[in-house]
Amino acid sequence: MVDRSLVTVERRGDITLVGIDRPEKLNALDLALCEELTAVFTEIAHERSIVVLYSTTPGIFVAGADIAELLERNAEIGLRGINATLFELIEQRRWPTVAVIDGPALGGGCELALAADLRVASARSTFGQPELGLGILAGAGGNWRLAQAVGLPMARRMLYAGERLDAAQAHAAGLIDVVVADEDDALSAGIAYAERVASQSWQALELTKVALRLHRPATTLYDMTAQALLFDSAEKRERMQGFLDERARRRAAREAKETS
Ligand code: COA
Repeated sequence: MVDRSLVTVERRGDITLVGIDRPEKLNALDLALCEELTAVFTEIAHERSIVVLYSTTPGIFVAGADIAELLERNAEIGLRGINATLFELIEQRRWPTVAVIDGPALGGGCELALAADLRVASARSTFGQPELGLGILAGAGGNWRLAQAVGLPMARRMLYAGERLDAAQAHAAGLIDVVVADEDDALSAGIAYAERVASQSWQALELTKVALRLHRPATTLYDMTAQALLFDSAEKRERMQGFLDERARRRAAREAKETS
C-alpha cells in the first residue's frame, strides 16, 4: 500500500481530478511521486471517468524528473523505466486524460503532459526537453510522443538544441490543444474540456482511444536501454551535479540573506 502525500484525488461527477503536490521541488518526479501516481492510476484504471491531471500549485506543471535522484540512478535502475512505465499506464487508461499545464513542463514534465490525451495550458506555460544538456535523453516516450505531436523538425530543435516553447508556440506546433489567457482559469478550462469529452458515448470513446493507440510506434524499449547506458556515464554525473551545485549555491545565498 503506497501512502498518499504527494498526489490528491477528487471525484467530481464524470471527472477524476488528480493533483500533483510537491511544490518545494516544483513537482519534480522522484520515485515516491511516481509510485503514488502509479498507485492512483492503477486504482482508477476501470473507473469510468475523464482524468484531469494538474498541479495543485499554480505557476508550475512539473519541472522534470528529480535530478538529485537521477544522479544516483544507474543502468540497472534505468532498465526499470520508472517514468516510462508510469506514462504508459496513463496512456493505456481506458478513457482520456486531460493535462492542465500552468507553468514550466520540462523534461519528464513535458513527457508526462504528452502521455495525456489532451493538453489545456495557461498562457504562462512553457515546454522543453532539457535532457541532453544533462547528459541523458528524453527516454520516457518523449522521443516519439513529442515528434508525433509537433513533427520531427520541431522535435529535433527541442531535443538537440534544447529550444523551449511558450504557450503560443506550443499551441501553433500542436503540442497543446487549448491556451487559456488567464492562468486562474486554466483548471476550470481543463475541467470544462474534460466534461465536453465526457458527454460523448463512453463506449465509443473507449474504442476510439484504442484505435488511436494503434498509431503508437514501439520505440520505448530502445529509449529505456539507451537511457540505461547514459545513466552510467561520467558526463551525466558531471552535468547533473552542476545543476545541483548551482541550486545549493542559490539556496545558501537565500538563507544567508534571510538571516542577515
Ligand atoms: N529535480 C530536482 N529538483 C528540482 C528540479 C528537478 N528537475 N527542478 C527544480 N528543482 C528544485 C530546485 O533544486 C529548487 O529546490 P532548492 O531550492 O531546494 O534547491 C526548487 O525546485 C525550485 O527550483 P529553482 O530552480 O530554484 O526555481 P526557478 O523558478 O529558478 O526555476 C525551473 C524553475 C523549472 C526553470 C528550474 O528549476 C529548472 O530548470 N529545473 C530543472 C528542469 C530540468 O532540467 N528538468 C529535466 C530533468 S531530466
